[in-house]
Amino acid sequence: MKDTMERVSLNWSELSFDYRQTDGHIEVRFENDAWGSARVVDGDTINMSIASTCLHYGQECFEGLKAFEARDGRMLVFRPEENARRMGRTAKKIHMVSPDEPTFLSAVDEVIRINRRYLPPYGSGASLYIRPLLIGVSALIGVRPSADFLFVVFATPVGPYFKGGLKPIQLIIMEDYDRAAPHGLGDAKTGGNYAAGLRGMLAARARGFAEALYLDAKENKYIEETGASNFFGITKDGRYVTPRSPSILPSITNKSLMQVARDLGLTVEQRPIHAEELHEFVEAGAVGTAAVITPIEGVQYHDELIRFSDRSEVGPVCRKLYERLTAIQSGDYEDTHGWTHEVQR
Ligand SMILES: Cc1ncc(COP(=O)(O)O)c(C=O)c1O
Repeated sequence: MKDTMERVSLNWSELSFDYRQTDGHIEVRFENDAWGSARVVDGDTINMSIASTCLHYGQECFEGLKAFEARDGRMLVFRPEENARRMGRTAKKIHMVSPDEPTFLSAVDEVIRINRRYLPPYGSGASLYIRPLLIGVSALIGVRPSADFLFVVFATPVGPYFKGGLKPIQLIIMEDYDRAAPHGLGDAKTGGNYAAGLRGMLAARARGFAEALYLDAKENKYIEETGASNFFGITKDGRYVTPRSPSILPSITNKSLMQVARDLGLTVEQRPIHAEELHEFVEAGAVGTAAVITPIEGVQYHDELIRFSDRSEVGPVCRKLYERLTAIQSGDYEDTHGWTHEVQR
């Protein structure tokens, strides 16, 4: 059957990673101890009480994932069930009720379907970014968990994170700022973590670095992650080394890259990484949905810029990992792990 929805006309390869209003979003409400049915809502505003717990007490969490158009026109989403599960784990930590997996997944499918005019064309390097959001909406003034929740899913087209290819960045370890504590919420995707990271991010940028790289808050010795991405390093003998810590977000991209690394014959190590160990890496990357891999050229630690390579270019291992994962995401490489989900029109 011919798809009658014509793609909007945008300069796809020039899109930035910014919000743009699309054709509609999905809302599902949890009230009286039960989830209602999903509604397609026009526009991009929501209606809630000024006393909603999300506004005062931070009962809020979210997810981020991407949809791609394949060469043959199929609409592919990357590992949405992983995001559904992570939202479930986050919600538990802040006493919220999350939608079950089928509700989450069908809302993701539906938001892509209704916004398919905004799905960037195959080969443009752009994608449709999906943002599921869960908020506490009971009107309360005392500190206690909300009984009512609103699950929202919206979509917006975003450009390739790096116009003109993979450009390495420099990070700085800012010891005066912590992102998350060991028994806190660092492994949950809740808004407060990002508010907490803004000061460190802006302080890093003021010093000319792209982002802050955080150390663990307890001992101030071990690499954790940046404000919005996991970290990995590549050793000379071909090991992919990434931190294990209770206070970092379990990145779905990192989980996928660990598998891709194994598929490419690398050894994968997930363990505490002492900051001094940065000297051992010949390549490094920051990983997440937005950019897949942002190659890291060097990290400033105390008074030293620890460089992973002399080149200002992306290293060969980062490139291989990036190319394989992006090829799987857009259906160009065989999806042997069953990571892509096709959205029916
Ligand atoms: C703190 C943090 N770490 C890591 C990631 C990467 O996670 P994912 O690969 O699931 O996008 C993100 C981004 O979403 C993040 O916000």
